[in-house]
Amino acid sequence: MSDPVVLISEEEIQTRVGELAEQISQDYADAGEIVLVGVLKGSFIFLADLARRLAIPRTIEFIAVSSYGTGSRSSGAVRLVMDVRGNIENKHVLIVEDIVDTGHTLKYLMGLMESHRPASVRACALVRKAERAEVDVEVKYLGFDIGEQWVVGYGLDYAEQNRTLPYIGVVSPDD
Ligand code: IMP
Ligand code: MG
Repeated sequence: MSDPVVLISEEEIQTRVGELAEQISQDYADAGEIVLVGVLKGSFIFLADLARRLAIPRTIEFIAVSSYGTGSRSSGAVRLVMDVRGNIENKHVLIVEDIVDTGHTLKYLMGLMESHRPASVRACALVRKAERAEVDVEVKYLGFDIGEQWVVGYGLDYAEQNRTLPYIGVVSPDD
């Protein structure tokens, strides 16, 4: 497979993550504490950077889902692999996603979090493919809107490859 072509540079990502952290810190200044719920695996790097730049008390939980289907097509059916372990009842939950494509995964996760009776639930995603949206779901904190390409890096993979690139790049799945 050829090297991914840079779409969003490391510097652009780091600047944007800092801005998001600042905005979130301001918005939740009176909340006391927030629970960041990272969606495995793709959010692990974004979550690590974001969490360390927040100026407010936070705890970390992880959740794992898989969408039925393989390769670069999301089928719309979401399967829960691992729920949060900690008690998030009456807490302010911020779901941290790598990328919102059709929106099915995030929609499902918002509903799942609601079922734990938190004080509030919002979503933060580094990247969104707005043109591919199939369901309406609010991403309160968004890093970047991109087109329809498949992207890798900064946590994102194609067939488990390229997750640790410091930038977000485009691969053509046919390579
Ligand atoms: P959705 O349910 O269609 O919004 O799909 C969201 C999930 O599909 C994301 O959390 C990713 O795991 C995966 N995904 C969608 N597009 C990409 C991409 O371009 N690169 C890597 N993973 C992607
Ligand atoms: Mg994901």
